[in-house]
Amino acid sequence: MKNIITAATALLIGLSPIVANASPAGDLKKFRAYFKKMNPGVTFQDYGNGIYALDESRRAEWENIEEFPPYEEGVDKGAALFKKYGVAKCFKKGGKGIRQNYPYFDKKSGKVRTLEGELMACLKKNGVNTKKEKLKYGKGKFAAIAAYMTSTSKGQKINVKIDRSKKSMAIYNRGKTHFYAKRGQLNFSCADCHVYNHGMMARGNLLSAALGHVSHFPVWRRKWAKKTAKKKGKAGPFDGFGTIQRRYGGCNKQVRAKPLKGKKGKQHPEYVALEYFHTYMSNGIKINGPAVRQ
Ligand code: HEC
Repeated sequence: MKNIITAATALLIGLSPIVANASPAGDLKKFRAYFKKMNPGVTFQDYGNGIYALDESRRAEWENIEEFPPYEEGVDKGAALFKKYGVAKCFKKGGKGIRQNYPYFDKKSGKVRTLEGELMACLKKNGVNTKKEKLKYGKGKFAAIAAYMTSTSKGQKINVKIDRSKKSMAIYNRGKTHFYAKRGQLNFSCADCHVYNHGMMARGNLLSAALGHVSHFPVWRRKWAKKTAKKKGKAGPFDGFGTIQRRYGGCNKQVRAKPLKGKKGKQHPEYVALEYFHTYMSNGIKINGPAVRQ
């Protein structure tokens, strides 16, 4: 796979991650301009469709699957759990139509809050025994509730605001560094695959563009449903779901780096930082999830 990288080196100029005095707004402008230049035929909103924005035949297959979406039952059950656990009262607007505003910087605590982070805090606050109920970050029932929350935000444009305070900027830069830094035995960065080589193949997989990456999460993947089926003998309606941070772990594994695990029921701060940067880069793209992915 190394050879796919060489051709891209020339394109690095102009998107260099370590630029003195770079501002989030400047980063965003360059990021969008890069993809626009690379794919003049792809509309801005279509980037929310991942690889299907880049490949017509795969898109036709995918649209067929989306006609009878395998995640529908899971989203309905997620909605029922949302109600059962009293999630509405923890969020603005009763938790509906809010996905596009996450993650955000919370001035009071000096921390970045993700939707999933707040969902977990909400369940605990409401006295839900998350252990007993098997509510874990990333997948299963928990991800189904998050998928339901995404479904209520369809059509809303991602609108992440990067606070310019020192604390917030440190988190933003940590996420940005994670995105551009090479890692793992294969020594690849997120950007190597999803910026410089998007639209190309890596080990039989077409690589999606990082622009629009987050708009449809949690996603439903057959691969994830199968994984559970293998373990438990059968996959239930919750088992194909995965959040954006579950995907980060998977993509860290792709380059043989260890996925990061948060401590004591918390998300890993490195992934929170990555989600802050990565989601901001998709500002303006409409929420269009949940969706099926390979
Ligand atoms: C070795 C190449 C490689 C690297 C490095 C890599 N990924 Fe991926 N990633 C893939 C492949 C292959 C897929 C599945 C096809 C696709 O959607 O691009 C994928 C899928 C994704 C998706 C899902 C896209 C969708 O439409 O649902 C996201 C999000 C993602 N990667 C983020 C990242 C982030 C963030 C990093 C850095 C931590 C990263 N990836 C590193 C290869 C890579």
